[in-house]
Amino acid sequence: MSCLVNSTALKFRWINGQCFEFKLNNGVTLLTDPWFHMEEGDGMLKEMCPPGFTLDDIEGADYVFLNHTHGDHTANLEEVVEKFHSTVITHSGNVLELMKVNNIPVTDMYPVDYEGTYYFDGFILETHHATHHRQPGNLEKGLARHAGDPKALANAMGGTFNMNFVLTTAQGMRIAFIGGNDDGMIERLQGTNKPNIIIRNKMASSKVKEGVAENFAAWFMAADTQILVPMHYETWLTKDPEFAAKMITDMNRIMEENGKVGRVAPMVRGKWYTLDLAINEA
Ligand SMILES: [Fe+2]
Repeated sequence: MSCLVNSTALKFRWINGQCFEFKLNNGVTLLTDPWFHMEEGDGMLKEMCPPGFTLDDIEGADYVFLNHTHGDHTANLEEVVEKFHSTVITHSGNVLELMKVNNIPVTDMYPVDYEGTYYFDGFILETHHATHHRQPGNLEKGLARHAGDPKALANAMGGTFNMNFVLTTAQGMRIAFIGGNDDGMIERLQGTNKPNIIIRNKMASSKVKEGVAENFAAWFMAADTQILVPMHYETWLTKDPEFAAKMITDMNRIMEENGKVGRVAPMVRGKWYTLDLAINEA
């Protein structure tokens, strides 16, 4: 297949969890849910991080977007902000607690709310209400689990203020970023609101390994977009890489069997890719 013309929309890479690094055509960088490195003694979460990846490997973070404030979405927030003087985009309900426990200058916080449209340097962000995968336990239990940790409340609040987004580049490429449950996203992203590509957390927690490909493919068929990039399956990549690979091949098989053009991209963590619009010879 020969390419007649190719135009790059942006560069991006999956790093870990819901942490993506985006590099726009104007050079502006956006980092989502910074969690890529932990120290010895940080327990289970450390194991899931890409081996050897540290703050030195992050190339830029003019903006940081937080889907929610659990530890596996904010673990490296403070060091990123300190190095890159990032503007932190997060639901307004998170702002006060995040400022209390991270050393972020007040004017570097950029509170946003649900179902809003925000204009940044080189991209437009549409924000959408989102819900976390079900977690048992109330606030008291959440605080007890992280007793003694100054970030305990921010962590416990992680199950509440979740936020999805659709990013539109200056040239009009639309990228949806969806964590947790669907929470109406399929309905929101129809017609002229449809994104070109969806970056999506799996349908349930990593502990649920029944019907993963079938349920995820059913959601993708209903969304009916061209490309899906799965994220936050680092637990499977670490502990059961064959299961992770099979999820993708099974999803693509299901899409093909159902006559859908959408395909799932198995992004390798840490590796840079370009998202392009191309005309190829048929
Ligand atoms: Fe979470």
